[in-house]
Amino acid sequence: MADIICVIGNKGGTGKTTLSHMLCQGMGLLGQRSVCVLTDTHREPLDPADRRYLIADARSREALTKVVDKIRSLKAWLGVIDGGGNRTEMDRRLYGIADLVLLPFRDSHEDIRTVIRDLEMFPRAYAVPTQWPTNAWQREAAEKAVAELLGPYRDRILDPVFSLSASKLLLQRSFPGSLPTPLTNASRAVAHQVIDLLQLPIERDAPLPALGGRAANASMAPAAAMAA
Ligand SMILES: Nc1ncnc2c1ncn2[C@@H]1O[C@H](COP(=O)(O)OP(=O)(O)O)[C@@H](O)[C@H]1O
Ligand SMILES: [Mg+2]
Repeated sequence: MADIICVIGNKGGTGKTTLSHMLCQGMGLLGQRSVCVLTDTHREPLDPADRRYLIADARSREALTKVVDKIRSLKAWLGVIDGGGNRTEMDRRLYGIADLVLLPFRDSHEDIRTVIRDLEMFPRAYAVPTQWPTNAWQREAAEKAVAELLGPYRDRILDPVFSLSASKLLLQRSFPGSLPTPLTNASRAVAHQVIDLLQLPIERDAPLPALGGRAANASMAPAAAMAA
């Protein structure tokens, strides 16, 4: 049965959508099939062409039920559900169906306060530092804030996803032909963390699947009818 990963959290703009797409892209690069599921009613679905994963539109309650059932029925697939901020009820529902829950947060006291609330509310969830500073001085300050404020949750904080301006390419409606190497590497690194947490049977450093362009999606035909 497929695993479902939910990327949620009360605060908007923390990087839920970016992290969801990076994770799916990284999984695709590692040969793992996945579907990125849109639930945010304020957003439009992206074009799946040329991505290494599928896109499903689950912006209504009924569509979400259908999409989750469909993903669950697919053997060895992953569903990555991109939540929307400020929807505690929806986050609770997604938490209930998820095998793994990720809570992105940025380097700010406000984000950290919110993620503490979410870590308390969702005891199986992991926090993911996102848009993390790369500048040494800023990074040190960010790590200090995390150590001071998130000390008790130390074991539930994953490795950071660094600030990468190229990450916005993943959220373009049409996928650009190719992605810069730093973004590809960051996507793979996120996927590896999730693979380890879910103990998925994927060979580390497996060769890239021979999927070029649209063929990547064509080979995912079983889920092509995913759009609900
Ligand atoms: N790792 C990152 N590096 C740089 N910018 C990022 C990163 N993750 C997200 N962003 C930017 O932050 C903003 C909010 O990200 P988004 O994924 O839309 O958050 P959410 O879905 O939680 O509202 C967007 O402009 C996005 O491009
Ligand atoms: Mg979003």
